[in-house]
Amino acid sequence: MKIGIIGAGNIGGNLTRRLSALGHDVSVANSRGPQTLTALEKETGARPVAVGEAARGAEVVVITVPLKAVADLPSGVLDGAADGVAVIDTGNYYPRSRDGRIAGIEDEGLTESRWTERQVGHAVVKAFNGTYAADILDRHRPAGDQDRLALPVASDDEAAKAKVRALIDELGFDTVDAGGLDDSWRQQPGTPVYGLREGVEAVTKALAEASPERTPEFRG
Ligand SMILES: NC(=O)c1ccc[n+]([C@@H]2O[C@H](COP(=O)([O-])OP(=O)(O)OC[C@H]3O[C@@H](n4cnc5c(N)ncnc54)[C@H](OP(=O)(O)O)[C@@H]3O)[C@@H](O)[C@H]2O)c1
Repeated sequence: MKIGIIGAGNIGGNLTRRLSALGHDVSVANSRGPQTLTALEKETGARPVAVGEAARGAEVVVITVPLKAVADLPSGVLDGAADGVAVIDTGNYYPRSRDGRIAGIEDEGLTESRWTERQVGHAVVKAFNGTYAADILDRHRPAGDQDRLALPVASDDEAAKAKVRALIDELGFDTVDAGGLDDSWRQQPGTPVYGLREGVEAVTKALAEASPERTPEFRG
C-alpha cells in the first residue's frame, strides 16, 4: 500500500520502520525537510518528502506530530491522496508540558481527534495514541498469540476504520472498535486504556470504565 507519514519522531519513525519492513511504499515528512531524513531513508528505504507531498497518492496517511503542530500543517495537506484515503491521527493533548491551551478542546469540549479533524478538513481514525512508540517495534505478535496486545480504534468513517484495523493486524496487534470520534475521549490521556498493554478483553473493559471528566494533568 502507498502510505504517507507526517511526522518522523518516536511514533512516525517506528511506523516508517515497520511499514517499510512489511513491504509498504512509505513516504515520510518532518518539519525540517527531507534532507534531514536521509538516515531514516538509508535504514528503511522509505522516501523522505516535503510535508505537502506526503499524502500524494496515499491510501493511508498518518498524522503523527505534536498536537499543537497540527494547526501549522499547510492547508490542503491531504490534497492528492487516493480516493477513500484513511487518515490516522495518533495525537494526544498535553496542554501543560507541550501543546499549550487549545480552545476547541477546552471550551467547545471537542475530543482531541475531532479538533484535529477540523484542522485538516478530513475524517480521521484515532489509533496508536495510547501505544508506546517502542512497542511498535518490539511488541508485535502473530494473530492468535496469547501475548498479543490490542489497540482501540475510533472513527466515524467505517470503511477507513476497517482499513486501519486490517493494517494494525498486519503490524502485529489486535484492535478493539472504540466507536466514533465523539466516543474517543474513552482513549485519551488519563483514561484507563491509555498506555494499557493488554489484550482485547482488558482493553474493552478499560474503554467501558473511562470517565468523560478530563484529569487535572490533561487540562489547560
Ligand atoms: N511518543 C510516544 O510514545 C507516543 C505514543 C502515542 C502517541 N503519541 C502522540 O503522537 C504524536 C507524535 O508523538 P511523537 O512522540 O512521535 O512526537 P515527536 O517524537 O516529538 O516527533 C514529532 C515529529 O513531528 C514533526 N513535526 C512537528 N511539527 C511539524 C510540522 N508542522 N509539519 C511536519 N512535521 C512536523 C517533527 O519534525 P521535526 O523533528 O523536523 O521538527 C517530528 O518528526 C503526539 O501527539 C504524541 O502525543 C506519542
